[in-house]
Amino acid sequence: MVRILSTKPLRAAERARLATLGEVVAWEGEGPIAKSFLFDAIADADALLTSGTRVDETLLSAAPRLRVVSTSSVGYDHFDIPAMRKHRVLGAHTPGVLDETVADLAFALMLATARRVVELDTYVRQGHWQRGDDEVLYGVDVHHRTLGIVGMGRIGHAVARRARLGFGMNVLYNSRSRHESVEQELQAVYLDLPDLLAASDFVVLLTPLTKETVGLMDRQMFAKMQPSAIFINISRGKTVDETALYEALTSGGIRAAGLDVFEQEPVPHDHPLLKLPNVVALPHIGSATHATRDAMRQLAIDNLIAVIEGRIQDAKIVPELQELAKELSQSCGQ
Ligand code: DGY
Repeated sequence: MVRILSTKPLRAAERARLATLGEVVAWEGEGPIAKSFLFDAIADADALLTSGTRVDETLLSAAPRLRVVSTSSVGYDHFDIPAMRKHRVLGAHTPGVLDETVADLAFALMLATARRVVELDTYVRQGHWQRGDDEVLYGVDVHHRTLGIVGMGRIGHAVARRARLGFGMNVLYNSRSRHESVEQELQAVYLDLPDLLAASDFVVLLTPLTKETVGLMDRQMFAKMQPSAIFINISRGKTVDETALYEALTSGGIRAAGLDVFEQEPVPHDHPLLKLPNVVALPHIGSATHATRDAMRQLAIDNLIAVIEGRIQDAKIVPELQELAKELSQSCGQ
């Protein structure tokens, strides 16, 4: 009998779909799954449905039957890939269905920081708005400025399209590889990271968290940015040295920052960055709209079902585990 563990509560229709495969156990408690519940239930689970539970050697050694972990997120930095290879456990994720929603949030943060939306909302609510106010309320333009995108994947492309076609911006980008189609379609220009940082009015960080991108935006990199520039992070908090960001924001090194992600999440409420009026902070909501989160949950369930039914080729397996997926497909005669 196949057993499926979900680290989050399931809706009736989701449970019903998964129940066609076998027995379903789901964490129904408040907040993140309790460790004792997870380790108890993983011991005889064949499949794990999650959205951020760390899948590492400790968990995998407690899960002798596990065949697949399906995460309801595009990011999978919570997967320990070598450990998953060693235990021959596949990892699936949800690329594609959240690109436009996350790109919208990049613009929400660009506009909010440039036009000081949150700061001035507080200003109005606190009764500071008086006739005669003027320059004290000014912000900076987004339209026709230069946008530097760090990480030109599907989401980067969706941001670049909004920037070029909607706001008439010049688009620069840096990425692991060149994207000639984006260059042709949107006149985007590829630059090395230091050159991109120096030339951009807005920098949007979209790169996945990997060994190479941990602490990518450090003191040296912030020093390349213009004092008038705005930094947006919608990738992962650990791509940024938060002390260096704080220094850049308080010393006039950069103008403002819009942050959807933090090194520690939830970010402690007394974090120094949260005390700055030139920071707009959000609780990691890049993909958090009803429609997109529903689509991500459905895709995560589709992926899990595909692997358990032996249709591995139909699942969105993360790139680093595609070799293993091929091997496992061949060995089950696909
Ligand atoms: C993702 O899907 O990786 C987003 O950051 C939401 O977690």
